[in-house]
Amino acid sequence: MEEDVREVLITSEEIREKTAELAGQITADYQDQDLLLVCILKGGLLFLADLMRQIQLPLEIDFMAVSSYGDGTESSGVVRILMDLEANIQGRNVLIVEDIIDTGCTLEYIVNNLLTRRPASIKICTLLNKPARRELDIPLDYVGFEIPDRFVIGYGLDYGEIYRNLPFVGILRPELYS
Ligand code: IMP
Ligand code: MG
Repeated sequence: MEEDVREVLITSEEIREKTAELAGQITADYQDQDLLLVCILKGGLLFLADLMRQIQLPLEIDFMAVSSYGDGTESSGVVRILMDLEANIQGRNVLIVEDIIDTGCTLEYIVNNLLTRRPASIKICTLLNKPARRELDIPLDYVGFEIPDRFVIGYGLDYGEIYRNLPFVGILRPELYS
């Protein structure tokens, strides 16, 4: 699997340092407040696991699964909820935990959908931001790394459902794209 990686973009050490930094900011920002982390599956899973154990506050977690990509590297633009939250978020402080914001279509759909449920607040925490391809402008509250317009894999991110378990974020060898 690692031989399919052309280049490591973000090392596991860099991810570790960044999650600690973000968790510190979140801990400071949500002092004495309710906090519900909403992880967007499947890509946000590793980030959630590392982030949440470093947030020093009582918190709850919940999960939502959406699909916007087929098996390829381009978004289909059509977002579907595959699995919805268990929690009622009315009056809650929701912090969305995402792997990557690319065009912004997925996030915009999720935010608009969650807003109809009348949470007290919605903020966004993403490990990666790919601003070059943004189509919809959504304010991001916590961003790990800005990355160039490359298709990345690892640390939760997949290509055709593979590579999510790589401990770093890497760029796939282009000859492996279909
Ligand atoms: P958006 O709707 O274009 O912002 O895409 C968001 C979703 O597409 C993310 O949650 C990822 O699941 C997926 N995605 C976008 N860029 C990449 C990438 O470079 N590698 C793997 N998945 C990606
Ligand atoms: Mg995702």
